[in-house]
Amino acid sequence: MHSPHHTDSAARHHVMRNLDEENATLAFGAEIAAVLHPGLIIFLSGNLGAGKTTLARGILRGLGYQGKVKSPTYNLVELYKISRLYFYHFDFYRFNDPTEWEEAGFREYFNEESICLVEWPEKASGLLPTADLQFLIQITGTDHRRVEIQAHTEAGRQCLKHWQTLRILRQ
Ligand SMILES: Nc1ncnc2c1ncn2[C@@H]1O[C@H](COP(=O)(O)OP(=O)(O)OP(=O)(O)O)[C@@H](O)[C@H]1O
Ligand SMILES: [Mg+2]
Repeated sequence: MHSPHHTDSAARHHVMRNLDEENATLAFGAEIAAVLHPGLIIFLSGNLGAGKTTLARGILRGLGYQGKVKSPTYNLVELYKISRLYFYHFDFYRFNDPTEWEEAGFREYFNEESICLVEWPEKASGLLPTADLQFLIQITGTDHRRVEIQAHTEAGRQCLKHWQTLRILRQ
């Protein structure tokens, strides 16, 4: 049995969006930034060059970070301190040893005061906590991407709901 309300809430945790060019991805990141809060865990999935770092850059700029956003490929993580917020940007593409996880103290970064955004979460699966939000980016053309947004927790669903409300207000 599906009440209209139930259908509505189910629709909210699975949303697709077309991103016609790099600037659309940056603008989308800024929209997402507007509904984030400390404690959230975000996964970015998609092939090499899909636009995960570009989306992370859009989110960071949306949060007010004005400096350079580089891919954390070599250190596995970059920390951005934005006002009182700790924003950890991970890239686990080169991650291959779970002892690295313990030694680097990554576990402690996932806490209520931080936002953790993870590229290539698949490479550290089994170690990572559940993501609140996951963005799956598909390459659909040279400059075209399609992003699927999934909420895996109640906090994630609240963010998506808030994002959709803001979109309606902007129209
Ligand atoms: N619509 C689009 N959205 C995002 N990036 C796009 C788009 N169209 C073209 N691009 C280009 O695709 C590339 C995406 O690179 P980016 O580093 O963001 O990918 P990535 O998913 O982080 O890759 P990696 O797995 O290597 O970390 C950039 O060169 C960007 O300019
Ligand atoms: Mg990247």
